[in-house]
Amino acid sequence: MPNKIVYLNGDYLPVEQASVSVLDRGFLFGDGVYEVIPVFGLKPLRVDEHLQRLQSSLSRISLDNPLSNQEWKQVFDQLLERNPGEDRAIYLQITRGVYPVRDLKIQPDKQPTIFMMVLQIGSIDMSQLEQGIETVTINDFRWHACDVKSISLVANVMLREQATQAGVVDAILVRDGYVTEGTASNFFMVKKGVLITPPIGQYLLSGITRDLVIDLAKENGIDCEIRPVAETELESADEIWLTSSTREIAPVVRLNGKDVADAEAGPLWKKMINIYQQYKQVLRQAK
Ligand SMILES: Cc1ncc(COP(=O)(O)O)c(C=O)c1O
Repeated sequence: MPNKIVYLNGDYLPVEQASVSVLDRGFLFGDGVYEVIPVFGLKPLRVDEHLQRLQSSLSRISLDNPLSNQEWKQVFDQLLERNPGEDRAIYLQITRGVYPVRDLKIQPDKQPTIFMMVLQIGSIDMSQLEQGIETVTINDFRWHACDVKSISLVANVMLREQATQAGVVDAILVRDGYVTEGTASNFFMVKKGVLITPPIGQYLLSGITRDLVIDLAKENGIDCEIRPVAETELESADEIWLTSSTREIAPVVRLNGKDVADAEAGPLWKKMINIYQQYKQVLRQAK
């Protein structure tokens, strides 16, 4: 097994040799943003949308984008070439870099730290995915900037730990009586054949998988509504899904100790996951 090659500030090097200063603001403050871009065959999925979201996260934290979109794509190609595999994901993060003193104040003209690695995600096991997952609802106590894909994920870690302590794999987060998202995924509900997901804004991340699922629904004649979802609606949901780049579309079959409908992955999930797999297959075959 060759050494895993990562990218750090312009260099490609084995992961063991990559190191960052302890004064890096990513380490001290979680002062940075990140992206996870799935890659099927040689093709990153919705790369322009990921780069657009990266730009939006960077702008929100007042950090200049260190590379042009073309440069990002060149680095992705180089890194993928050095880390061969079938289904992979590019992880990238940019922090505000190293300052000589620990001070919150942003200094202009400092060098950010750019780090990238390839995650071998492997193919999704469809029969396992179809088993579905169990979740609980948890109060969403995160901040008012959940649209920023920030590396400061301690709140998400705490929420995921609450789910683990409850004996389930993930949580559906609820703020002021309305569903926001999962701890690392977006939320969808199916009711009477209509796919419903909450609108984007400061309380949830604009997931690339979420956008793709909405687009695929529209292209395939599935009714899709973007509107707030009250917690009280969850009990009568016909289906619930959580979506993300690495989890794809996970059906939630039990919630708060009760079955969701008949506790099986529903018919609309089956339709959508097939459409999604076909979409991936086209990417895998693309040159
Ligand atoms: C909080 C949160 N919401 C939603 C998502 C889903 O985003 P994407 O579909 O772009 O992976 C993620 C992914 O990590 C996340 O961390």
